[in-house]
Amino acid sequence: MRAQIIGTGSCLPEKIVTNDFLSTIVDTSDEWVSSRTGIRERHISIDETTVSLSAEAGRRAMEMAGVTADEIDLIIVATCTADTLVPSTACLVQDELNAAHATAFDINAACSGFVFALNLTDVYMQAGMYRTALVIGAETLSRIVDWKDRTTCVLFADGAGAAVVRAAETGVSFSTLGSDGSRGGAIYVKSRENYNPFVTEQKPMDFLYMDGGEVFKFAVKKIPEAILETLDKADLTVDDIDWFLLHQANARINQSIARKLKIPIEKVPMNVDHCGNTSGGSVPILLDEVNRKGMLKSGDTIVCAGFGSGLTWGVMVLTWA
Ligand code: ACO
Repeated sequence: MRAQIIGTGSCLPEKIVTNDFLSTIVDTSDEWVSSRTGIRERHISIDETTVSLSAEAGRRAMEMAGVTADEIDLIIVATCTADTLVPSTACLVQDELNAAHATAFDINAACSGFVFALNLTDVYMQAGMYRTALVIGAETLSRIVDWKDRTTCVLFADGAGAAVVRAAETGVSFSTLGSDGSRGGAIYVKSRENYNPFVTEQKPMDFLYMDGGEVFKFAVKKIPEAILETLDKADLTVDDIDWFLLHQANARINQSIARKLKIPIEKVPMNVDHCGNTSGGSVPILLDEVNRKGMLKSGDTIVCAGFGSGLTWGVMVLTWA
């Protein structure tokens, strides 16, 4: 059996922050941000949390799938901005949704997280361990961004996307995942407080640091390679793919990937203009958007791809239900 997506949902915080607003708090402009990244506005949490966004995205996905909380036997949340270190976001979501029969845990693969989580679900389903899963990618990156740092605060945002996944004859078929920890310095949140009595010098928690150029170069090289590797395993070519749902970090990265692989840009939907970079939330939020617009047809072949901190990357091919 394979992991088949049977419902999607997403949830974005109510507050919308425009580039023009950001230009009042840091030295930037709508022109700089939109021309370099494609981002015009993003959703930023005030009262919403990673758990509340995840639970609402999950509810919407379950409603679309016609699945009750009782039926869910696995919940995986991909996040690098959990509200609590313990318990996991997934356990708190389980409680919110009353999904009492689910095994629940988080994974952290940053912007590749949803692809990693869906791959893991697929492997479990191939092994016959679970039948109905809720796979969520969710972030509140606004909590770890330095709002005085114009190189990051204009890029990152909050939101959650979810997919209800059922063990079925078709679904996810081939995946390629990878990590390069030696390049972890390209995006990191380095230190956390340590109040144990042996530490004499307290270091406050750092904000998120990113070497944008390094990540850009990595993404435009690694993702085309990983897409071709995955298509090769699946015995498919770029032309066989109906949709490429790529991580929404920067429109220029996705345009470059499309150009390199000669993919018509119409097959590469983007929502970075109104969502910004929601890391683990990005691929499932986009998936839900295109699904709710009725763009995905039964039998469509879809490539999902994520890349980000780690560095990590993940590409998968799946057949739409
Ligand atoms: N407004 C105005 N100027 C700015 C801003 C800003 N918001 N940010 C940077 N600049 C300035 C820089 O200081 C620099 O000025 P200088 O030339 O005087 O030094 C100039 O603009 C150019 O900066 P670059 O960093 O070279 O700009 P670049 O064209 O590379 O774009 C960007 C930067 C948008 C960050 C790009 O590199 C990018 O998108 N990288 C990929 C990020 C990504 O994909 N992240 C995904 C992973 S995230 C995760 O895993 C959590």
